[in-house]
Amino acid sequence: MTRAFHPDPSWVAVDEWLSQTLLSATEEDTDSIYRRNKAGGLPPIDVVPNAGKFLCLLAKIAGARRVLEIGTLGGYSSTWFAKALPPDGKVVTLEINPHYAEVARENHVLAGVADLVEIVVGPAMDSLLAFKAEGVQPFDLVFVDADKRNNANYVRLSVDLAHPGTVIVVDNVVRAGALIDPNALDPEHGDADTRGTREVLELLGSHPKLEATALQLVSSKGWDGMAIAVVR
Ligand code: SAH
Ligand code: DHB
Ligand code: MG
Repeated sequence: MTRAFHPDPSWVAVDEWLSQTLLSATEEDTDSIYRRNKAGGLPPIDVVPNAGKFLCLLAKIAGARRVLEIGTLGGYSSTWFAKALPPDGKVVTLEINPHYAEVARENHVLAGVADLVEIVVGPAMDSLLAFKAEGVQPFDLVFVDADKRNNANYVRLSVDLAHPGTVIVVDNVVRAGALIDPNALDPEHGDADTRGTREVLELLGSHPKLEATALQLVSSKGWDGMAIAVVR
């Protein structure tokens, strides 16, 4: 990442108030995972709590039984997805870093969702190609949140693993405005993750099987955004 995502202090305070008001009474387990990941030295790039619950509600609204996540980190967002599922549901989450996967596994156990979440360790592209070759059951919701330079490849493969109605969410698509900054997009001196983000949005806007939009978001992590698409 080449760009600071510094939040305005009032964005931090508002996120705290929203999470206190809407989440605190019921969400001790996700809260403790969030704090545990920070204390354990994982990069502080989990989705923020109110966004985690937003993803959980989105999965409920979609009636999702099978969720695919690309980028597990410490299992924070995958725990939120697991909470949206019926007892026979499944979250399959892909993570390249074995240590992060281990922390995530512990967190899934702590939250009582370990039976609902399968972590696949390795480069996400390899796992996705293997799923496609095996002909796995399609996923109802996909959350793309790993190495942003591969975003477009992840979305193309997600469409192969989807059905009409599958929801695809892509995190971190605004990057403090880097999305439209010519310096960040420069092929030589720019940032591959920003170029990957731009590429995935262009794909979402032109793919014949996708209807998409994106929202800018400010949060305790700064200025960023999420894209959402539905498969035709
Ligand atoms: N979704 C998580 C945050 C994910 S952070 C949450 O909100 O809780 C991005 C993660 O993607 C990191 O853990 C990083 O190790 C992982 N990652 C990066 N490149 C990857 C790759 N090629 N394949 C799989 N995972 C990758
Ligand atoms: C980064 C990655 C994320 O998934 C995120 O939500 C914020 C930052 C990063 O790689 O810097
Ligand atoms: Mg993210």
